[in-house]
Amino acid sequence: MDKNEHIYAIFGASGDLTKRKLVPAIYSLFIQKLLPTKFTLLGLSRSNYSDEQFRDKMRSAISEFDESEDTSRIDEFINHIYYLPFDSEKSEDYGILKEKLKKLRDGREINGNTVFYLSTPPELYSIIPKYLAKVNLNDQSDGWKRIIIEKPFGTDLESAIKLKNELLEDWQEEQIYRIDHYLGKETVQNLLVTRFSNGIFEPLWNRNYIHHIEVTSSESIGVEKRGGYYDSSGALKDMVQNHLLHIVGMVAMEPPSSLDADSIRNEVLKVFQSLRPINKENVKNCTIRGQYLASTIKGEHVLGYREEEGVDKNSDTETYAAIKFYIDNWRWGGVPFYIRTGKRLPTRVTEVVIHFKPTPHFLFAKDATANECNLLVIRIQPDEGILMKIGMKTPGNGYEVQNVNMDFHYSDLNGVRIPSAYERLIGDTIKGDSTLFARSEEVLEAWEFLQPVIDSWKEEETPLFGYPAGTWGPEHADDLIEENNLTWRYPCKNLSNDGIYCEL
Ligand code: BG6
Repeated sequence: MDKNEHIYAIFGASGDLTKRKLVPAIYSLFIQKLLPTKFTLLGLSRSNYSDEQFRDKMRSAISEFDESEDTSRIDEFINHIYYLPFDSEKSEDYGILKEKLKKLRDGREINGNTVFYLSTPPELYSIIPKYLAKVNLNDQSDGWKRIIIEKPFGTDLESAIKLKNELLEDWQEEQIYRIDHYLGKETVQNLLVTRFSNGIFEPLWNRNYIHHIEVTSSESIGVEKRGGYYDSSGALKDMVQNHLLHIVGMVAMEPPSSLDADSIRNEVLKVFQSLRPINKENVKNCTIRGQYLASTIKGEHVLGYREEEGVDKNSDTETYAAIKFYIDNWRWGGVPFYIRTGKRLPTRVTEVVIHFKPTPHFLFAKDATANECNLLVIRIQPDEGILMKIGMKTPGNGYEVQNVNMDFHYSDLNGVRIPSAYERLIGDTIKGDSTLFARSEEVLEAWEFLQPVIDSWKEEETPLFGYPAGTWGPEHADDLIEENNLTWRYPCKNLSNDGIYCEL
């Protein structure tokens, strides 16, 4: 018996995430032979599809990723897929689901191992697990049962605590996998490898040598078709509470004692527990919020946020958020962290920039400033890689210093494919490895840290600045950075370049 044989049940299977990310990721695991031979995928949603109709939809979703002429691999995979029309809010349907699972298991001689993936609106996160438990589908006596939920885990501290308590009434913490897809990104995991497999970085990775740290996650797209969801969320809840703070956790954590799930997550939790609270009075000085305005990008008119489909015409929801904060512990005491994210910025980039302190005495006439050299950039996406900017002598008379790049691009590793975050995370849910999933304590700490910001922004005590689509956000964001000669780095699509006018 294979301990990983299972049925993968996806709620919300007619939705976009299933066809764009989940099924292609499961297919990719299949062709790499990373799935057990005994597995079944069951799609569940209200649409009235037959197995065949659902299989056809999944076939075309996969074909977009696998363009090979030989369709036999897709055919073989498709045979593992089934469908059940299902209303998650109707308790009667759960009895039918239980029967269906039994039938599928008997047909393929699979034991009771089951993953329940909730690719649904968050309102169903407390309903589906409860109804599953009512028909004993949380019972692990015939095989493991796991539920996977996507962020957002609550919409503020109070709702997150409520959701946690509701889930824990019927499920054990080890059965709950909270997906923050950034943790599944190879390059986010590489933060650990860069830090802890190279003796040269760790001695410098602290308040003695680091001046400040920036984390940027920018997107060039607007809210697209998600205006309805986004307008009730905004950049702070959509990106900062989860993705950006988790990156900070990886950058700032202490070395774990081992690579097991709890050792790593305990260290991230300690970072979150050390975040210096931002009092409501401080929010104005430590945060910037913005909203994109209509503009022309490369000759094309681009709508402002308030004109987007599904968005309130008077919306005060932020599409840009920047925060300055400190981590009060021995390693990071006094080192400012600056994080920012936004939609309709010039380019799509996620990166961490470590600004090392300048030398104590400027020997050379034009010593590069702390902002321009002495930098380590860890690029999460795109053009994944790592870049060190250092000052070097310009050949010729005297001692002119110029900044040069030492860089590594993942694309230089010929033939190496970077797997999608979902591929990694789905594989881990099957193996039962929860290292890259958020535990409830981390989620609550992150909400607690941001709650004063949420409250203050709601009460409109912090101004909402407009910024033209296609720019780097409100100009005031520069004021957040303490020292006059410092600004944010303006990254380009290509890791090696930067600057406000670089090619995007
Ligand atoms: C999601 C957010 O979690 O992350 C989206 O809800 C955002 O608004 C997306 O666009 C960004 O993910 P990625 O992997 O494209 O950086």
